[in-house]
Amino acid sequence: MGKKKRKSERKLSKSEERRRIEKLTKRGKSKSVEVRGSEIHGRGVYCIKPIKAEQYFIEYVGNRIGKNEGEKRAWDQFEKHEKTGAAAVYIFNLTKKWDLDGDVEWNPARLINHSCDPNSEAIQDGKRIHLQALRDIGVDEEITFDYGFDIECYEDHPCRCGSGKCVGYIVGRDFHDQLAERLAAKEEETSGAK
Ligand SMILES: C[S@@+](CC[C@H](N)C(=O)[O-])C[C@H]1O[C@@H](n2cnc3c(N)ncnc32)[C@H](O)[C@@H]1O
Ligand SMILES: [Zn+2]
Repeated sequence: MGKKKRKSERKLSKSEERRRIEKLTKRGKSKSVEVRGSEIHGRGVYCIKPIKAEQYFIEYVGNRIGKNEGEKRAWDQFEKHEKTGAAAVYIFNLTKKWDLDGDVEWNPARLINHSCDPNSEAIQDGKRIHLQALRDIGVDEEITFDYGFDIECYEDHPCRCGSGKCVGYIVGRDFHDQLAERLAAKEEETSGAK
């Protein structure tokens, strides 16, 4: 007799799949935030109940997928982004074997916009991803985190976060110094050409 397959290895029945989504939908809900039209871009996530520094306030849920599939989807999302401007930021690295694809409508945290001066960060706790506050967040503040984009192709991602620390492009904080150098060199080039 063949060995019974684990749930993660076999196709789920319709009712098992429904229960799986219900469970994840519940996990992705938060009493501290809600989705609203954003001043930064499209829809965003706003604080509706004061959040304390270091608090986990929403889980970033999605479908667990194998690494190969994760890489493929990340490329597909990136290509779609190049063609249509759609977001390309939903795949999180979970373990050596698994990625998490948060591009599902039951994951409200996928709507969190980027800021150059973010008030939260996505952190991994075991096999789960949570958004954790970097400081106290007040009611009606928009929730943001650093998308951590690479500096390559920065011109394709203008930033509209509106913070006093905005560097003009969606680029990870680790690249802010490099970006400042590149922008200064570009400025010098154009003023020299006049
Ligand atoms: C994961 S979505 C966030 C939700 C998005 N606002 C929406 O309504 O679908 C990421 C996309 O939102 C936009 N976005 C997020 N933060 C931004 C920012 N600071 N400035 C400009 N656009 C931003 C970019 O188009 C990015 O690809
Ligand atoms: Zn910005």
